[in-house]
Amino acid sequence: EKGGYGTFMEKEIHDQPKAVEDTLLGRTDASGRLVLDELRIDPDELKGISKIIVLACGTSAYAGMVAKYAIEHWVRVPVEVELSHEFRYRDPIIDDSTLIVSLSQSGETMDTLMAVRYAKEQGARTLAICNTNGSTIPRESDAVLYTHAGPEIAVASTKAFLAQITASYLLGLYMAQLRGKLFQGEIEDILADLHKIPAKIQEVLDGADDIRQLARDMAQAPSVLFLGRHVGYPVAMEGALKLKEIAYIHAEGFAAGELKHGPIALIDEGQPVFVVVPSPHGRDSLHAKVVSNIQEVRARGAKTITVAEVGDADVVDYSETVFYVPETQPLLMPLLTTVPLQIFACALAAEKGYDVDQPRNLAKSVTVE
Ligand code: F6R
Repeated sequence: EKGGYGTFMEKEIHDQPKAVEDTLLGRTDASGRLVLDELRIDPDELKGISKIIVLACGTSAYAGMVAKYAIEHWVRVPVEVELSHEFRYRDPIIDDSTLIVSLSQSGETMDTLMAVRYAKEQGARTLAICNTNGSTIPRESDAVLYTHAGPEIAVASTKAFLAQITASYLLGLYMAQLRGKLFQGEIEDILADLHKIPAKIQEVLDGADDIRQLARDMAQAPSVLFLGRHVGYPVAMEGALKLKEIAYIHAEGFAAGELKHGPIALIDEGQPVFVVVPSPHGRDSLHAKVVSNIQEVRARGAKTITVAEVGDADVVDYSETVFYVPETQPLLMPLLTTVPLQIFACALAAEKGYDVDQPRNLAKSVTVE
């Protein structure tokens, strides 16, 4: 059942090309237009939405952050992302033109369920992106978009995360199509690039021996920092969470721009720092700014490990190790840059002899508040 792998987590990391592919499957008609019939929500209602609030916890909330960057860019509707347990206990501004998008692998996370119920009571429309058919959150939501990652057994989420990001892109593109915010040709180009992602994930998986070797070499590291910017920021947060969860190593993710506002004080000789580097083809100057962050931490003695787009020569001089991922559109990069970080955490935990699938103190679905 582990498909020849030693742990479910390893298997699920290797299931990711299929998880993304299956989540994309059957979402377009013969003319290439996105059809999300299963949504069960009136397209006119989606057209009238004035604000989206994404609610989730943990890894799913990081998928929500990626969703924000993509949906705001494509649909031009404001998107807030909030941890479900914080949302309910403030006084959020919601009305019937608010769309709540919940992200949950299990569909049973109590904090997210309660937040969705609360938003419904306040008159919001609710849409669930969920990996578990017939679970509570989609049942209680007005609309549902299932991720097709297949059952996720390891406690630490991997393939469900990539599937959630994929489904969020589909939702964004669908809304952009409904609201006429992108040309049909632009949507088709993005979809075509999405369909190329599974083979690119496979390339990352096939070239992962160096990452596993690095993990073995770093098994004694007391703390690891992760930096990213734009969609690389949630990827950095996710890389840190994986390491905390299964390898019990102190790890922090930061937005790279925050470095000089505090975290750079943590850098001293030998401190490992992973940097998720934005695409050199993305927003002007973002790439250069992150490259100079790498230089800054390196100059203070950090051991720099970068995850960058293939061909990015600018990072080489300042990186102790570079992991390259294939090229894609800047917004789609998390589907590739996350993978080396998952492999790193999994290999490091295994090296330490920990139970990768069942980390201490954690449950697969958190059904208490
Ligand atoms: C991290 C992890 C947790 C979950 C979180 C939400 O690897 O598994 O952080 O992402 O508990 O769970 P779901 O998505 O089931 O609502």
